Amino acid sequence: MTDAVAASQPAGLDASDPAFWTVHQGDARDLGALMERAARAAGREGQPFLQTTITSPPYATLVDYGSENQIGFGQSYEDYLESCKSIFRSVHQWTLNTGSMWVVADSLFDRRKNGSPSRLVPLPFELAAQAESVGWTLREVVIWRKDRTRPWSHRGKLRNGFEYVLFFVKSNSFTFNVDRLRDTGNLKSWWVKYPERHNPWGMSPDNVWEIPIPVQGSWDNAAFRHACPFPPELVRRMVVLSSDEGDVVFDPFAGSGAVVAGAIQEGRRGLGIELNPEYVSLFRGGAPAVPREKLESKPVSVMTQRLLELRMLKYPKELAKQLLRGGFTTSQVCAVLMEVESVNYKPARTGYGTIDCSVVVADELSEIESARLSKLLLDVVGKAPLSKYGLEVQCNVVSIVEAGTKFEDTEVSIYTRGRTWQADRTLAGANLEDWIRDVGTPTVVPIVSPLHVQQSLEESL
Ligand SMILES: C[S@@+](CC[C@H](N)C(=O)[O-])C[C@H]1O[C@@H](n2cnc3c(N)ncnc32)[C@H](O)[C@@H]1O
Repeated sequence: MTDAVAASQPAGLDASDPAFWTVHQGDARDLGALMERAARAAGREGQPFLQTTITSPPYATLVDYGSENQIGFGQSYEDYLESCKSIFRSVHQWTLNTGSMWVVADSLFDRRKNGSPSRLVPLPFELAAQAESVGWTLREVVIWRKDRTRPWSHRGKLRNGFEYVLFFVKSNSFTFNVDRLRDTGNLKSWWVKYPERHNPWGMSPDNVWEIPIPVQGSWDNAAFRHACPFPPELVRRMVVLSSDEGDVVFDPFAGSGAVVAGAIQEGRRGLGIELNPEYVSLFRGGAPAVPREKLESKPVSVMTQRLLELRMLKYPKELAKQLLRGGFTTSQVCAVLMEVESVNYKPARTGYGTIDCSVVVADELSEIESARLSKLLLDVVGKAPLSKYGLEVQCNVVSIVEAGTKFEDTEVSIYTRGRTWQADRTLAGANLEDWIRDVGTPTVVPIVSPLHVQQSLEESL
């Protein structure tokens, strides 16, 4: 089979050629030669180099994929499982410690002829047992809900509407970038009043994925006729969750090449092996690599932006509340000024952003009280609830005169009565000192910020 791989290389397609990252023709039971060359191409000669493998083995012994000596069709069920196991073992050997393997599989129906009831064969879990026996750890099961399924059902059986997606890891330090799949679309109510309870980048994705299967006409090349290509969105989710740009993504049952194409589209190096030369040349001929509707990187949602703003505005309100709880009064703490320094609209390890909070104190505050305030400030920002806001905060204490010079050239919004989602008014920053002096002793410490938000409680974004 080494020869088959070598023979399938167009002239010049050696491991140093960027075109090496494609689908190669060959038998996945004999991965050694391809893996050696790919490791070299990845700059890791003789060492593990695969970040993630995304694959669906042939559908047990039921589907003929049109080549001699294929896995599945023509084999006994036991030989089929044994073949899959040997491939899972090689993949495991060549996978990095941070790596993983996704296996998409469906259960099947074993019709009994002798009068006993037909049995559902839990193929995904029988494959999982094979994978675990060679060192993989099953970590997650995702239900892939398809909108269209086979139109028939067996007597006494519901129509099958999903497949299993099994996620295996090699070690505990596996890559899993869950932030990349967060979605703000499904946030529950109360987000306006409690922005700190909602992740602005959205909810963590759940393990039921509703993704339609591609219709034949959705591919660029009408000649493409593979039995069961993965939908691009399914590939994208697995790729972005378990790998980073530049990583190698592999498929030992490449079929249409959907995994290799999806990996390349996400900036990874895609590598596949496929037994049927016809599928390989269709892929190499540019058949299905990218569906007509190109995947676009998701823009920052309005909801994400608004949640970040609300969180940043609620922080100074909570800060003032903690200071009052610590014994200060609204005649001593006149206002808190909040300025946004930076915002992380996309998930970042460093949190949601940086803000600057200036606590404005009355002229009459004694030095002792002022020192106590600074100490209390240090104390409260390091503790819950403020420490839970995920914000980098620079805090300081300023006089009313200093407050008046802070936003001299900017318009500011004033939030009173604790409603940090709805500005009560705007003001030229140059007039801030007068406004603070005029306001007297309010019941709630006003929040002042150049950030202007008018969000009604009912409106959904
Ligand atoms: C379920 S299909 C994979 C479909 C693929 N996930 C896609 O998106 O197009 C299984 C593939 O495994 C291939 N296959 C069967 N035996 C093989 C072997 N020994 N080595 C490599 N590929 C093989 C079949 O030709 C078929 O294309």
